[in-house]
Amino acid sequence: MHAPEANPVLMLAAAILVGSQACRPCHPAIADAYAQTPMARSSGPAPALPTAGFTAAGHRYKISGNTLAFDQAGTAPIDYFVGSNSEGRTYLQSSDGHLFELPVTWYARRAAYDASPGYQNNPDVQLNRAVEPSCLLCHASQVRPVLGTQNRYGDPPFLEGGVSCERCHGPGSEHVRNPASSRMVQPAQLPPDRRDSVCAQCHLTGEARIENAGRRLAEFQAGDRLADFATYFVWKLGRTDLKVTSHVEKLAASRCKAASGDKLWCGTCHGVHGNSSRTQQACLDCHQTAHRQQEQCADCHMPKTRAVDANHGVMTDHSIPRTPRTPLPPVAGDLVAFLGQADSRSLGIAYAEMGDPRARDLLRQARPADWQLRLRLAVLETDPARAAALYESVLKERPGETAALVNLGAFYGAAGQSARAIELWRRALDSNPGNEEATLNLVKLLPRAEAKAVLTRYLSINPGSRSARSAVANF
Ligand code: HEC
Ligand code: HEC
Ligand code: HEC
Ligand code: HEC
Ligand code: HEC
Ligand code: HEC
Ligand code: HEC
Repeated sequence: MHAPEANPVLMLAAAILVGSQACRPCHPAIADAYAQTPMARSSGPAPALPTAGFTAAGHRYKISGNTLAFDQAGTAPIDYFVGSNSEGRTYLQSSDGHLFELPVTWYARRAAYDASPGYQNNPDVQLNRAVEPSCLLCHASQVRPVLGTQNRYGDPPFLEGGVSCERCHGPGSEHVRNPASSRMVQPAQLPPDRRDSVCAQCHLTGEARIENAGRRLAEFQAGDRLADFATYFVWKLGRTDLKVTSHVEKLAASRCKAASGDKLWCGTCHGVHGNSSRTQQACLDCHQTAHRQQEQCADCHMPKTRAVDANHGVMTDHSIPRTPRTPLPPVAGDLVAFLGQADSRSLGIAYAEMGDPRARDLLRQARPADWQLRLRLAVLETDPARAAALYESVLKERPGETAALVNLGAFYGAAGQSARAIELWRRALDSNPGNEEATLNLVKLLPRAEAKAVLTRYLSINPGSRSARSAVANF
């Protein structure tokens, strides 16, 4: 049977993160092997890039000296990369510590740049997509978001590129001092729900992942139970197409997993340190009488298809089908909890994120009415005064919540209270200076010189914005 409910991390409560370099002296073989894996190399400062010229989503781009230039004569610095480049690599620009995703990505299989996922049909060159901490929490380690902002980080924004040892083994300071008496978390030996949580913290998103009231995914550590931090929703009827982070759901949908339960997990086929695959052995261990023992089972039973959310990325079907499935988009029926407990709060927030009208009734009855819930309710609220009261209450707890600042500013602006509106929109830009709505609203209310300064700042981040360019042309 499983170990009792003792939380293995409690024993390590005093330990803090020390970074993977601290492990190298005593675990050199693992450290060297792991350093070559895609996970270890999933982010970092951008290396010097070769000069390139290309077209993506109808725009001409040029890269030279780590600057991205495009046809409307705008430029952006290329400061960080995300993605090891086994499938591809996306780049980020930093503006005073605020990070933004660039609209072009290098696709390794095609050996070419093209539009980043989600930008394929964008008529404008858009350089102001905020990089929120969730992105870096999956691709980097010791991420340093500045509290009260949407996308500002310390310098550097993360202390270690890629997935560090401690993301899977827990904080190491005590172990480094005294390895014999202070043990690290060993994922494979954890109770199954905690074991699976180690990988699922980054390999599961579902259709919506909603943090539990008062919990933050950023605080999850190896050894914890992911369901204590967030609730993950999927469509009740499932989906047969693949997404970038759908490996956990897909494996759960396999006959193999359904029939063998906790025995089968990611580590059955993946040795994570050395990039080694134990897949063939795993198939044979369980299917001793199967046909075609001399062939690679995965070639037929784990086929590769394009991921719907990766533009050109290709993924392996972890649902281990008998014969390849036809990738069909999901039937958007009901959401059900894949991990964690669905309640009116989490379900309401999930529907709200998907723009589903079922959100409102759920959110109204849900408890606790924490700030996340009140923010969604405010957006759905049709009575402006009631919405404003909700936004005020959100900002008491989360003074940098950009959506609340922008929308509450609009409420005061419409009520003729310009000074209050200006203050709120300025705070929105402190949280995220790439927010176009706050910028354009401010410009209408501010004196000429100040308005011009606000527009100039915004255009330095997002020079392709048509609205901001035409506003500046009016000066
Ligand atoms: C929930 C965790 C999670 C979040 C959030 C996330 N990613 Fe990923 N991303 C992954 C995982 C896991 C893979 C590997 C998937 C695979 O190989 O099937 C991946 C793959 C990628 C790749 C391809 C890497 C390669 O070469 O294989 C790029 C580029 C990328 N992500 C960029 C981003 C950016 C940029 C963001 C935020 C704006 C982001 N991702 C948000 C988990 C995440
Ligand atoms: C993605 C998760 C992950 C990362 C990152 C990771 N490990 Fe592991 N580690 C595991 C798992 C899972 C095991 C259990 C053995 C197995 O499945 O191969 C393990 C086992 C170990 C062991 C026990 C001995 C052994 O080989 O089984 C040591 C020591 C270890 N890891 C050190 C490290 C060090 C040092 C790093 C960083 C250089 C690191 N690990 C990075 C998941 C990880
Ligand atoms: C000073 C040497 C030293 C350093 C530094 C060190 N380890 Fe270890 N580690 C050991 C020894 C020795 C063992 C074997 C302990 C035993 O079996 O008694 C071990 C065991 C482990 C294990 C197996 C579980 C356990 O605790 O027995 C893991 C996982 C592990 N180390 C990970 C790490 C990681 C991750 C780091 C960096 C944060 C690290 N180690 C740094 C010496 C070290
Ligand atoms: C902190 C986030 C994080 C954790 C924890 C994590 N992964 Fe990953 N994993 C990623 C990201 C990001 C990528 C994509 C790396 C890239 O190509 O840029 C990835 C890629 C992979 C890959 C494909 C690349 C390769 O090495 O073959 C496998 C397999 C994988 N992870 C397995 C696991 C397993 C098994 C666990 C749990 C033991 C785990 N991961 C834990 C973030 C994570
Ligand atoms: C931990 C054990 C385990 C592992 C590992 C495993 N399977 Fe299975 N698999 C099973 C069990 C149990 C069933 C259900 C058998 C049954 O229903 O008769 C199954 C069912 C299947 C089926 C039938 C699926 C269907 O929809 O009818 C296929 C195909 C299959 N496995 C292939 C594979 C391949 C290929 C691998 C390796 C990539 C693999 N399995 C790894 C245990 C496993
Ligand atoms: C039955 C074996 C098996 C299990 C279990 C398994 N994988 Fe895989 N995985 C594979 C195979 C085979 C590939 C393709 C490897 C290749 O092409 O080199 C793969 C590839 C991947 C990749 C690279 C991207 C892709 O889709 O090709 C990631 C990421 C990954 N697995 C994550 C996971 C995670 C997370 C789990 C646990 C939820 C898991 N895998 C469980 C066999 C398995
Ligand atoms: C050349 C492609 C191919 C390879 C390689 C292959 N299979 Fe299959 N397998 C199939 C197809 C197709 C079916 C479905 C046959 C049917 O439905 O009549 C199947 C069926 C199965 C089933 C279900 C059998 C049943 O009677 O329910 C299992 C289990 C299975 N394969 C396991 C494996 C394992 C394990 C390996 C590797 C040792 C493997 N297969 C290699 C194509 C392949």
